Amino acid sequence: MADKKIYQASTTAPVNIAVVKYWGKRDPKLNLPTNSSVSVTLSQADLRTHTTAACSTSFNNEDTLLLNSSPQDVTGARTQACFRELRALRSSLEAADPSLPKLSTLPLRIVSENNFPTAAGLASSAAGFAALVRAIANLYELPSSPTDLSRIARQGSGSACRSLFGGYVAWQMGSKADGSDSVAVEVAPASHWPTMRALILVVSAEKKGVSSTSGMQITVATSELFQRRAEIVVPKHMELMEKAIKEKDFATFGKVTMMESNSFHSTCLDTYPPIFYLNDVSRAAIRVVEDINKKAGKIIAAYTFDAGPNAVIYFEEENADVVAGVLKGALGSLEGWHGREIKVQDIGEVDARAVQVLKEGVSRVILTSVGEGPIRTEESLIAENGEPLQK
Ligand code: DP6
Repeated sequence: MADKKIYQASTTAPVNIAVVKYWGKRDPKLNLPTNSSVSVTLSQADLRTHTTAACSTSFNNEDTLLLNSSPQDVTGARTQACFRELRALRSSLEAADPSLPKLSTLPLRIVSENNFPTAAGLASSAAGFAALVRAIANLYELPSSPTDLSRIARQGSGSACRSLFGGYVAWQMGSKADGSDSVAVEVAPASHWPTMRALILVVSAEKKGVSSTSGMQITVATSELFQRRAEIVVPKHMELMEKAIKEKDFATFGKVTMMESNSFHSTCLDTYPPIFYLNDVSRAAIRVVEDINKKAGKIIAAYTFDAGPNAVIYFEEENADVVAGVLKGALGSLEGWHGREIKVQDIGEVDARAVQVLKEGVSRVILTSVGEGPIRTEESLIAENGEPLQK
């Protein structure tokens, strides 16, 4: 009788927010970037994808993926590349040890859940692909390191390769045509600089803007500023950023983070036709951060923006009262502050119009911190009979 056993493994994986931005592909098929990047992994207590991967001869003969209870298309080249690479690694284990079950030949059933709204524009593809790759690697019992797996996750979504690690992570662009050296490495673990906090201001966006995948392609094709960014600006920022993280030098970390965000969004404006990710609310957040830093007489808060209007503001715990306190004063009773001991602060000198724009435009806040990489869990999203568990 055929083995009807259901094999399964589960993991959670974090979101990461870049402080040196990835923007531009030199090879869209392999998802190879035009520059290296650095990110901070955020705590999974607030933002994570939980994924269970299962396989069995009893499953219908096709791979499936359920995200927050809705079926996703897995036929796209990116998901297929991840499946193919992971199966190939499993298959070579099976070839070396014929006693292993032939999991590489079985259909995959993947069930995923985000603990945050997928539509909020919060780097869900990074956590999503990192969790998918890590869960399948666990299922297949692959001996691969996080860096090995980052090479696979990168093909799902570039930024996902950095979510295989916790703490402070670099994605080295690499130079080989096959992408084998375009991988993520740890710059420092979360424990090295555990006092890093991130406040996310979720801006109510009416419609989705240009996706990062297509946005960066148009930038590469049309922006001249982009050339300079990839060749001169980013290499300089990479060096400064890695040193700032190693030395826990927030002033430099913050300055480079803000200049990076500004440089990336300049290349978006220099794209033809131009791409606008920042809106009035984003600019109000920049203004308030500038005012906080001016009042402090040094950089204690740093903003950054990805391919959308949400602001992420980094600061250290010792300045939480000022940075988060001022913003809490501005934003009042929004969802997301609950359970945190943040006292409202009024430092004066904060632009009143910017505060008003923030009040009207921010729909929710997420106060979080630097966190760990993927965590294996026994908590499964698939029942023993192989069916997805209903929430
Ligand atoms: C602005 O990783 O979403 O967030 O590789 O096409 O999936 P694809 O792009 P994606 O781009 C992220 C761009 C960014 C900057 C960053 O995270 O480094």
